[in-house]
Amino acid sequence: RKPVTVPSLHAMKAEGRKIVMLTAYDTSFAAQVEHAGVDIALVGDSLGMVVQGQRSTLPVTLEQMVYHVTMVSRGLSATLLAADMPFMADRSVDFALEAGARLVGEAGAAMVKIEGAAPHILEAIHALTERVIPVCAHLGLTPQSVHKFGGYKVQGRAQDDAERVLSEALAVQQAGASLLVLEGVPSALGERVTKALDIPVIGIGAGPQCDGQVLVIYDMLGITPGKRPKFSKDFLAGRASVAEAIGAFVADVRNGAFPSAEHSYN
Ligand code: KIV
Ligand code: NA
Repeated sequence: RKPVTVPSLHAMKAEGRKIVMLTAYDTSFAAQVEHAGVDIALVGDSLGMVVQGQRSTLPVTLEQMVYHVTMVSRGLSATLLAADMPFMADRSVDFALEAGARLVGEAGAAMVKIEGAAPHILEAIHALTERVIPVCAHLGLTPQSVHKFGGYKVQGRAQDDAERVLSEALAVQQAGASLLVLEGVPSALGERVTKALDIPVIGIGAGPQCDGQVLVIYDMLGITPGKRPKFSKDFLAGRASVAEAIGAFVADVRNGAFPSAEHSYN
């Protein structure tokens, strides 16, 4: 398998081939993700919730991200490795650059992901891309904004809210982002943003029209404790192994079977 790169992901969008992204937090799961032919492995700060058992992603530190990214990088070869920036990575441009240097230079990520489109975030995206660190933006239901949103609520339902998400998407692309994760928005908005942007849009609860899909691996294996989001699906149910479950997720994203209306917002 040829290594997945930022240019190859852009070619996939141009050719209408779906991009598959899945989280991983350690070497063994990374190897499963690699074996299944996933395009992008994401060390998400979701690890704060599904690995550490915390109530939100906010307490996850840069140090912990570096640790998990290092472990995941050892399980990958062709899969592109993306790493989440911790909460308040835009506290200063210097901190964002330090985090980028550690996650990419030290831990082995090829891309960092940062939530939001506020002025400081746009500045951080620009500063990172200027230093040749590719950035994945993340908009919509951004989990680090849980206190602002007052919970994990679908974004962009009202017309003015949808327009805001669309203009944020254009702004992160303009700032230099190479990729966008769009989370928890109605399918119609997912489609609009995907068509408006040149960069690939990876959806999670953003409908079937996005350029690709991402899920939290423990959600799609059905092992995350408690209530799982509407947009996740248990791919291990009725299957014999983790490898089969991830393989089914990859196949369903590639052929457009996932997500269906049942796993989308209208
Ligand atoms: O932290 C994470 O796992 C994420 C994905 C759900 C996109 O940000
Ligand atoms: Na995240």
